[in-house]
Amino acid sequence: MIKKAIFPVGGLGTRFLPATKAMPKEMLPIVDKPLIQYAVEEAAAAGIEQFIFVTGRNKSAIEDHFDHSFELEHSLAARGKDAAMDVVGGMMKVPGSVIYVRQQQPAGLGHAVWCARHLVGDEPVAILLADDLIKGRSCMKEMVDAYDGGNMVAVMDVPRDQTGAYGIVTPGKTHGQKVDIAGLVEKPMPADAPSTTAVVGRYIISPSVFDTLGLQEQGAGGEIQLTDALAKQIGTAPFTGLHFSGERFDCGSKVGFLQANIAFGLDNPDMADALQEWLRDHIE
Ligand code: G1P
Repeated sequence: MIKKAIFPVGGLGTRFLPATKAMPKEMLPIVDKPLIQYAVEEAAAAGIEQFIFVTGRNKSAIEDHFDHSFELEHSLAARGKDAAMDVVGGMMKVPGSVIYVRQQQPAGLGHAVWCARHLVGDEPVAILLADDLIKGRSCMKEMVDAYDGGNMVAVMDVPRDQTGAYGIVTPGKTHGQKVDIAGLVEKPMPADAPSTTAVVGRYIISPSVFDTLGLQEQGAGGEIQLTDALAKQIGTAPFTGLHFSGERFDCGSKVGFLQANIAFGLDNPDMADALQEWLRDHIE
């Protein structure tokens, strides 16, 4: 039912300067794979067939990443590097299924999503923020399986002193892993937060959200917030949070990024033993 996904990748990545001066933050690698590729693979595992990237200036490395690299492929073939050929060839998508649109100015997540409206049309669409990396089962697949209309977000509990970094929900009734959402506020101070249940960067939105985003109302930080558009729909459309099963890493922060590299490294048979030994020596 959900065949399209939006990947907002227009952000400047200032927290990772100078690494992100000439390189998109979404191309930062976790072990050997860029963050954006993890998000695309998670979406593909959920049955997504069209991948819509909302990019900005300085993001052409992302387009190149999902295209053929003829010199590289030629050179790998000539040298008989079959395993590397499989890695590079295996990530190619069906021609025409990767689509790019530019967000001309950084006016917020809601604005980035709205920039994709003509490419989505009248159907629900998935949204994945690549700097929220989720290890384990595809979070988007869990959401697609659980989705039954309206709007849905992935949620997790966070320490109260961190509410200022997230959209925070007012939870209603719970049904297994699902929770009805009675309210949603962007980045509240801990004292004002309605709960400690936070939105993680995975959404399924109904097409009417684009109309609300089109009103271009500014919210927290003077930006057009997806959170505000979703909150505005409460009462007119079902709104559900899903407690997903995977482990989430905040790769928008340096600590989260390093933790993700260690966690994925420890899972990688080529390096797990050496990494574990090094960690043991250095932690004690
Ligand atoms: C965005 C959303 C926020 C959400 C967060 C998850 O914030 O606006 O509601 O909780 O992603 O990572 P950002 O991290 O882009 O500031």
